[in-house]
Formats: sequence, structure tokens, C-alpha cells
Amino acid sequence: MNTIKSYPTSAKLLHWASALMIISMLFLGVSMIQSLATWQVTALALHQSFGVLVLVLVVIRLLNKLRFESPSLPADLARAQQIVAQGSHVLLYLGMIAMPLSGWLMQNANGVMVTAFGWFTLPTLIPADIQYYALFRELHGLIAWLLFGLILLHITGALYHGLVRRDHVLSSMTFNSHKDK
Ligand code: HEM
Repeated sequence: MNTIKSYPTSAKLLHWASALMIISMLFLGVSMIQSLATWQVTALALHQSFGVLVLVLVVIRLLNKLRFESPSLPADLARAQQIVAQGSHVLLYLGMIAMPLSGWLMQNANGVMVTAFGWFTLPTLIPADIQYYALFRELHGLIAWLLFGLILLHITGALYHGLVRRDHVLSSMTFNSHKDK
């Protein structure tokens, strides 16, 4: 338990950049697989590149997290709510890693090498194998739904803190400088 009321700017920037990218990627992913059209080649290339960027950002985020102490949840928050909040944060981090990693493995199992923005090619993690391709494709879709559910829970929790309880939790991640003190 500490009295810190706000995350450092680096953590806020990483949080909002990842949020924007992941939410866009969930919608891009679903729309990309709906039909076969020429724009899907470009969509998939962008999907892969931003997916790799999400993975890079989550690694930077976790390393950055070691540098500072995060604000504590309000002491009067029910024990069950504290457990749900902390548990969902761990699951969000796992989801942010599993989502791009399953995409990467799916592509390798399909015999495709993953490139990011045409700048570099990622190492091939597994050889081409139709069964693994099917497995990781299925997993990629399943993790996407779980991540979507977690994001909805996360947003609901943030709004509950900001609008109902009106405590410091929501403002700890916003750029509301007068509340950063
Ligand atoms: C934050 C990262 C990512 C998110 C949120 C995301 C999300 C999604 C979603 C929602 C779908 C549709 C799944 C379905 O309904 O079956 C999808 C499909 C796909 N994703 Fe991702 N993805 C991410 C990263 C990646 C990466 C890094 C790659 C490859 C390196 C990748 C490759 C693909 C491919 C190839 C498909 C089409 C699968 C099919 O043919 O059914 N994704 N993605």
C-alpha cells in the first residue's frame, strides 16, 4: 500500500498506445477474415506488423514497470474487487503476449515468415505443419475473444472507479496533470 496517485508519463504513453493498437487490431483481424478481397493482402501485412509492434511494446512496458512503483488500489476497495482487478491485469499482460505470439506461430506453421513494416523478418519459431497451423489459428481466434472480454471488463472497472467511486484509479492513467500530484 502506497500513497502514489499517478503512473509516470512513460507508462501512460505505453498504455494508451497499446490500447489503441490492440483494439484496432481486434477489429482489423475480424474484418480481415470475413471475405476474400485484394485489400486483405495489405490488411494482413499491416496486421502482422502492428501485431509485432504490440509484442515489442508489451516487453518495453514490462521492463519499464520494473523502474517505478505502481499506485495502490484504494484501501477501502472490497477484497474480491482487488483480486479481480489484479488478476485481470495479469491476464491482460498474458493476453498481450499470447495474441501476437500465436499469430507469429500460426504464420510460421503455415510456411510464412513474419515481417514487420518491411524493416525486418522475425526468426522462424516452428517448421511448417498443417496441424500446428490449424491449432494456432484456432488459438489466435480464441485468445482474441478472451482478450476482447478482458478489455470490456477492464473498461467497465475503469469507468466504475472514475464515475461511481470517483477515486484516483482512473485518473492515475490519464494525462490529467492537476491530479498527477
Ligand atoms: C495484438 C496483436 C493481435 C491481435 C489483437 C490480433 C487479432 C486478430 C483477430 C481478432 C483475428 C480474427 C480471428 C478470428 O476471428 O478467427 C486475427 C486473424 C489473424 N491474425 Fe491476428 N492479431 C494480432 C497479432 C497477429 C500477428 C503478430 C500475426 C502474425 C504474425 C497475426 C496473424 C493473423 C492472421 C494470419 C489472421 C487470419 C487467420 C485466418 O486466416 O483465419 N495476428 N487476428
